[in-house]
Amino acid sequence: MTAPVLFPVPEAIENAVSILRAGGLVAMPTETVYGLAADAANPDAVAAIYTVKERPVFNPLIAHVASQDAAFAQGDFSDKARTLAAAFWPGPLTLVVNATAQTTVCDLARAGLETLALRVPAHPIARALLEAFGGPLVAPSANPSGRISPTRAEHVATDMGEKIDLILDGGACEQGIESTVIDARGETPVLLRRGTITPDQIETVWPGLAEGGDEGRPVSPGQLLRHYAPDAALRLNADAPEPGEAFLGFGPGEATANLSATGDLAEAAANLFAMLRALDRTHDRIAVAPIPMEGLGAAINDRLVRAANRR
Ligand code: TXA
Ligand code: MG
Repeated sequence: MTAPVLFPVPEAIENAVSILRAGGLVAMPTETVYGLAADAANPDAVAAIYTVKERPVFNPLIAHVASQDAAFAQGDFSDKARTLAAAFWPGPLTLVVNATAQTTVCDLARAGLETLALRVPAHPIARALLEAFGGPLVAPSANPSGRISPTRAEHVATDMGEKIDLILDGGACEQGIESTVIDARGETPVLLRRGTITPDQIETVWPGLAEGGDEGRPVSPGQLLRHYAPDAALRLNADAPEPGEAFLGFGPGEATANLSATGDLAEAAANLFAMLRALDRTHDRIAVAPIPMEGLGAAINDRLVRAANRR
């Protein structure tokens, strides 16, 4: 049976909490993408996430919590790490810190690591669910591992409606790409995944940002080379489509779909995954217009390069 899709009236949140307490899986909207939530303290529920997503178990999950204080109970935050939390939470920032001895996030969710990724989401439905549940919820993006992340409830229903217990419908995600992931354990921050909070924004709060991860042994498996992938072949930095290609545009001009006709990068990020999904249904090949590297453009290009990788 397909998971019911509920609009988040208070009863829907209560329903979701009961399912989570019983070890079930609930898709919830966040400001970035839809997450597939489970009780972070329940290894069976966490195992079900890995199974449903076909996610490699070496790839740890983000624990979502309702407040900074809840995060500080799960992870060891330096004063510097706390400045990032204060500046960007609730919001699309994930901080990797050392887990505390008291953490309730199970080993499987952390892939056996001593570290823990934590995020306080801003979306009102995610916040309502976290507050009502009262403990950390792990929530990877609600897509099969390696595929395009969901930014609408119907994306989740299509990808995994048969395999999960409930989908909370919050409409379209405002930001559209996943949170920025920062390793906040050291003297200076390390960027593990680009997101809608840009390196410049991090720098203004905690200077000295370094780039992390390496291709062979990713520090953050979100850095895997092939990820966010459609079935269609992608050709990037295309000025025009070739015969048979869909054209995903950016800025003024003709296109099969346009990320932002006005060249607005935030609008483009919000549209990226939904438009890739739509063109993937109708075309085998998609040409994508050049996206400038400034600001949010770097995060958009990061997703496009991984989506285009055929390996
Ligand atoms: O915006 C988001 O972050 C969304 C929404 C639902 O919150 N979630 C999300 O989760 O993107 P997921 O599982 O698709 O991506 C989590 C990323 C992965 O790249 C993972 O490798 C990294 O965070 N990560 C998790 N724990 C880590 C850790 N201890 N050290 C380094 N990277 C970690
Ligand atoms: Mg993901």
